[in-house]
Amino acid sequence: MKKINISASLLSANFLELGKEIERSEVAGVDSFHLDVMDGHMAPNISFGPPIIKWIREKTKLPLIAHLMIDNPWLFLNDYIKCQVDAILIHAEAYTNEAINHQLIKKESRKTTQIDLAKLNYSLEQIKAAHIKAGIVLNPETSLNTVNSTLDKCDIVLIMSVNPGFSGQIFMPEVLEKIKELRSRFNGEIEVDGGINIETAPSAIKNGADTLITASYLYGSKNYKKTIQSLRG
Ligand code: DX5
Ligand code: ZN
Repeated sequence: MKKINISASLLSANFLELGKEIERSEVAGVDSFHLDVMDGHMAPNISFGPPIIKWIREKTKLPLIAHLMIDNPWLFLNDYIKCQVDAILIHAEAYTNEAINHQLIKKESRKTTQIDLAKLNYSLEQIKAAHIKAGIVLNPETSLNTVNSTLDKCDIVLIMSVNPGFSGQIFMPEVLEKIKELRSRFNGEIEVDGGINIETAPSAIKNGADTLITASYLYGSKNYKKTIQSLRG
């Protein structure tokens, strides 16, 4: 049986105790840290960016995966490269050709059918040129077909199983089909993000996930080690 990686999303960690939370997570056996970067445009929440990530990098040697939920990510890639993260994941929806009405998207996730694939590919190449893993993220409503021709450029594809923005949301089972379809045509790493817990993890794994991201389920639990073991199944 393949080993399932558990990536801890620090979004639900106690930020006043960040160093200790990182240590506790490491001791408990997480495989990497997932960093949710949000700008209030691409996702309806604001979190943290390079100044905090720089300190997280000094604290841990585990892989750091930056999940960029920001508009115009191509303008900021170098900042994350400089932070020495191990992977950068960019939302396909940030590369839309459609005009975005920020008022309308404020409380829902970005929907798009027209993706500027040339620009998206260029960003992926820029990330890889820095010897960092590159990946794309798809919102629950974004179809796999919109990024078909980009898959071979990706080390990682992350499937959102909630609308981006907040920890503690409920897993959307309708994305399972997308995970399964992706598994049939992608050999890289498939990550699943949002609403992962003991009930939802098995179906994500069964449909092809390699890595499960967890924020509230892990950081809301008392015994991190047991929680991680239970998710691995
Ligand atoms: C949502 C973030 C997720 C989130 C997951 O926008 O991308 O990584 O922190 O939180 P849980 O595990 O609580 O659903
Ligand atoms: Zn995330």
